[in-house]
Amino acid sequence: PATTVETEVLIVGAGPAGAAAAALLSTYGIDNIVLNKYGSVSNSPRAHITNQRTVEVFRDLGLEGEVIRQATPQHLMGEHVYATSLAGDELGRLRTWYTHPHFKAEHDLASPCSVCDLPQDLLEPILVGAASSRGSSVRFDTELLTFTQDDDGVTARVRDRLAGTEYHIRSKYLIGADGGNSTVVKQLGLPLVGEMGSGGSINVVFEADLTRFVEHRPGDMYWFVQPGVGHGGGGIGVLRMVRPWAKWIGVWGYDVTAGTPSLTEADGIRIAHQLIGDDSVPVKIESMSTWAVNQVYAEDNTKGRVMCVGDAVHRHSPMNGLGSNTSIQDSYNLCWKLALVLRGQAAPTLLDSYREERVPVGRQIVDRASRSEGLMPPIFQALNLPRTPDAQSMQNALAALSEPTTAAWERRRAFDSALQDTIMCFNTHGVETNQNYRSNAVVPDGTPDSDAPRDEELYHFATTRPGRHLPHLWVTRDQQRVSTFDLCGKGGFSLLTGVSGGAWRDAAREISERLGVPIRVHTIGHGGDYEDSYGDYAAQSEVEEDGAILVRPDHIVGWRAATLPANPAAALGDALEQILGLR
Ligand code: FDA
Repeated sequence: PATTVETEVLIVGAGPAGAAAAALLSTYGIDNIVLNKYGSVSNSPRAHITNQRTVEVFRDLGLEGEVIRQATPQHLMGEHVYATSLAGDELGRLRTWYTHPHFKAEHDLASPCSVCDLPQDLLEPILVGAASSRGSSVRFDTELLTFTQDDDGVTARVRDRLAGTEYHIRSKYLIGADGGNSTVVKQLGLPLVGEMGSGGSINVVFEADLTRFVEHRPGDMYWFVQPGVGHGGGGIGVLRMVRPWAKWIGVWGYDVTAGTPSLTEADGIRIAHQLIGDDSVPVKIESMSTWAVNQVYAEDNTKGRVMCVGDAVHRHSPMNGLGSNTSIQDSYNLCWKLALVLRGQAAPTLLDSYREERVPVGRQIVDRASRSEGLMPPIFQALNLPRTPDAQSMQNALAALSEPTTAAWERRRAFDSALQDTIMCFNTHGVETNQNYRSNAVVPDGTPDSDAPRDEELYHFATTRPGRHLPHLWVTRDQQRVSTFDLCGKGGFSLLTGVSGGAWRDAAREISERLGVPIRVHTIGHGGDYEDSYGDYAAQSEVEEDGAILVRPDHIVGWRAATLPANPAAALGDALEQILGLR
């Protein structure tokens, strides 16, 4: 092909990871092209759970309001009912997604943002729209075929699937955001570990007004112990809310070793009715699809000028809802680094920290999701069911649960505890929020990496130690509450200090001028830029009033000083140069 189009960054894929990367790069003023092989955004709801860290990214992008407007809020997400069907007997309930009062407090303390439930087919247009309106060239029906890279850039061969023509795109960097069947990962030969296609699920998207079954126990998922649903018969059927309470996904298992089932509309209606437990409810099937559960992560996400984000480098079950969230956060980690390198403000070695920081996260979330998958079978084991239970044995087992015998008592205990243990499929606040990066873009301050006081997967751990996420603290200005998060981000570095830390302002000005990298300085406390009205900054900043916290554009603490050193400009300059790969 003769034509060659040029851009700074080519993004392959316009799912959550790629569309977020495009929106971020355009917001940072970096020229980019984003490709989507297909003619539209996701045509089915897929991912829904949008966790606090992801909403923070949207807040930073100025998109939080639009996301909240379209999403189902937290208070309608939480009641997860286990039952024989939606109309059938309840076996127990969980308060998920931090709606238990104890977790709600933890949740609200961790972030100015709230978890919400936004179907992927509504999220993607928000991101693609922001990318497009801020300068990205969004190319639908355009497929990456192959690419080559050299010392100066990447040349991709792409195909316009409408015109059937091919052309080249030459970029300085390429982001592989092309999902679970990534061409980019395959072509790079990135090492993948784990198992693909370990279990199959059928998704039936349908419209039905189920208000009368759920409005008194609002939740985004209802779990049903029914025979024949899962792989090997011992699985669990799910009704997944898409829009309250009129649109749903019925999730049903199938045995992948028997091949992909071909489904008729009648099959879809049968599945929906079996999950609802009332055949008289009018059901309108919108779509049906099958998907396989993968448990795979890449041991490396980068080769030369190509970085991979999202499902391309981590694929796992939807348990814990970490997929699209982690994908968007990969892009949030990568894009400010690319912007600084492309503007010549940082050395290309800054990009190594993308690998160092995000490969461990990919490994961690795949491990978490697969352990969460393992929490469902004990529910069936507790019922002492045969491997492929029929309706009668299931009914007998459930009836036996109510018997006043010692054996049934044991079984009740095992069943209730198995059911309650599944809370780790939903509430893993620590996995979502406790990033702890070790890389050349984090400057250690010599303090030991103390153990979190509580289970680090379950609970958020707020600290300003370098490599950790900046704690969210409310401060005030003109009597208005402002989160510490809002003082940071937007593609730039920020320095937080107390009222006695005025000398940091001169230091930051000097270093900004020398390195050509803006640093915003905010003093917090009596008479400062922001009032520490609740005393939270003094109590939780872990630095003295004349100390300082250097926050990277992605809200990660890059460095901190416990007190004002003799030469603050030298100290700040050393730290920032190290982060930028300049020393
Ligand atoms: P994604 O697959 O979304 O996007 C890939 C993009 O690349 C697409 O635009 C595609 O067209 C494009 N592409 C591919 N090859 C290309 C090529 N050669 N050239 C050009 N373009 C190409 N996650 C979560 O966080 N919470 C949840 O609740 C759930 N629930 C859930 C339910 C179900 C049923 C599924 C299947 C998945 C989830 N997930 C989830 C996971 C979530 O859907 C998934 O993690 C994200 O879509 C990943 O986003 P990516 O952008 O990485 O890939």
